[in-house]
Amino acid sequence: MKISSAEFVISNSDVAKCPKEKLPEYAFIGRSNVGKSSLINMLTNRKSLAKTSGRPGKTQLINHFIINKTWFLVDLPGYGYARVSKSAKKVFQKFITAYFSKRTQLVSAFVLVDCRHEPQKIDLEFMQWLGENQIPFSIIFTKADKLSKNKLPVQINNYIQTMLQYWEEMPNYFITSSSSGMGKDEVLNYIEDINNQLKNSQ
Ligand code: GTP
Ligand code: MG
Repeated sequence: MKISSAEFVISNSDVAKCPKEKLPEYAFIGRSNVGKSSLINMLTNRKSLAKTSGRPGKTQLINHFIINKTWFLVDLPGYGYARVSKSAKKVFQKFITAYFSKRTQLVSAFVLVDCRHEPQKIDLEFMQWLGENQIPFSIIFTKADKLSKNKLPVQINNYIQTMLQYWEEMPNYFITSSSSGMGKDEVLNYIEDINNQLKNSQ
């Protein structure tokens, strides 16, 4: 898919105030600092469409971006960041849960995980929750540039083995790097295919 336009629409913490347009929507979620905002910038070829930071906890709201004037991409706050206060965490959790439960436009979530880390309980539990709530998702492994060519497949395979303890099949997944652009075409083509299927079924 060619990105001809990518514009910020609105930020808020209330799912009821998210854009009303019935356009297909894809949300990026995962632990703080995993690279959600960076991936959005990489996919859209914009340096600072979504705000990024080396300090976890940068994105604190539901951020809608409209792409090619036909679909929404959503940047969400990270979960599981220890330095955010317990009460702030609860607020995040509340509106993230509300977003996923109520946003009927949502076509699929992308759950981002850092390919360098062993599977984390919080990610596994979040995917479990998506499954229980019948919310489709793919996994996006981030920061692939930080692992050697040999180590990368070992880590991914390790993750798959863990997933298979909980899931009958490995969910759809992508291996990406926002620094090198790895995985960009695969993610964008995946979204384009779904958008085309939705258009044809209307
Ligand atoms: P929150 O908004 O705090 O939840 O974080 P986030 O998931 O949006 O992460 P963000 O995109 O802000 O990136 C966090 C840090 O990781 C930044 O310093 C990025 O430059 C770095 N980073 C993100 N993606 C990559 C990547 O693919 N490769 C490398 N080397 N660094 C990355
Ligand atoms: Mg962010």
